[in-house]
Amino acid sequence: MSTSTAARLDVAGMVRVARERVVARIREAEVVAAALSAGRNVILEGPPGTGKTTLLRSLADGAGVPLVLVEGNAELTPTRLVGHHDASRVLTEDYRPENFVPGPLTRAMTEGALLYVEEFNRVPEETMNVLLGVLSEREMHVPRYGRVSARPTFRLVAAMNPFDAVGTARVTPALYDRSCRVAMGYQDEAAELQVVAATTGAPASLVARAVRAVRITRDHPELRIGASVRGAIDGVLIAVELATVRATTADEDDTGLDATLAALTGKVTLADGVGRPVEDVVADIWRRAGEELGKA
Ligand SMILES: Nc1ncnc2c1ncn2[C@@H]1O[C@H](COP(=O)(O)OP(=O)(O)OP(=O)(O)O)[C@@H](O)[C@H]1O
Ligand SMILES: [Mg+2]
Repeated sequence: MSTSTAARLDVAGMVRVARERVVARIREAEVVAAALSAGRNVILEGPPGTGKTTLLRSLADGAGVPLVLVEGNAELTPTRLVGHHDASRVLTEDYRPENFVPGPLTRAMTEGALLYVEEFNRVPEETMNVLLGVLSEREMHVPRYGRVSARPTFRLVAAMNPFDAVGTARVTPALYDRSCRVAMGYQDEAAELQVVAATTGAPASLVARAVRAVRITRDHPELRIGASVRGAIDGVLIAVELATVRATTADEDDTGLDATLAALTGKVTLADGVGRPVEDVVADIWRRAGEELGKA
């Protein structure tokens, strides 16, 4: 029998804070807030840099509940997630509840937090099984520590990147069946312009060209994986600094190009069989972005 039931959350407060801090994404904010308030767990599925963490953080703040963030990877063992007994204290004191060091899951359950696991598909299967048990029971038994019950506001949110081939197949149908899924794709150009303008405060022409360039990377035949809005933010910020050292303007062609090469060449992945360097592909994209916007 379940000892803790989920309490409703402040949906209006969540959506209000999301509207203040997140560009567009109103539908997603409302649906995720509603699902969480209804006691559901949520899978956020979208490529890197699509605002998943930004949205979740604002929803947690709006609900007035803590956010516990965990990076999912192969090293996230059940022990790391749940916690462990302090080895040196165990030697002198034996196992005691006081020498238990809670991991993020235990903290999130006892604080009534949103537990946000990024790159969830990279989490080892035995760790996923621990989470599945908690989702069903809202409590868990920790050996030599005791029973941990989830406070009524505890929820799990798992983020997944659809392009991430690592371990994707291992996310069990049981987890999908116990969660709701909200897709977070790339935003439209107007929203991305607003995101980059707000984060950089740079001149509109530079922001426009950087945003256009990352958008071109996403369906470029020579690239398998394109860049997110982070690529545009990085390019703009570098160009502004570079213009200062060079005593030129940030949207001057060479300065913009050097900044874009630094910002994008590591973020994109060449398609199979492409024979030229990634620098050449990105340089073409930068020029094309300029042409499309009627500059070069
Ligand atoms: N809709 C948005 N509103 C405001 N900022 C945004 C939005 N989308 C992206 N950003 C900005 O873009 C950057 C990446 O966003 P964020 O970290 O939330 O993405 P993510 O989906 O969590 O990425 P990852 O999957 O790599 O963890 C941040 O600097 C964030 O401020
Ligand atoms: Mg994130």
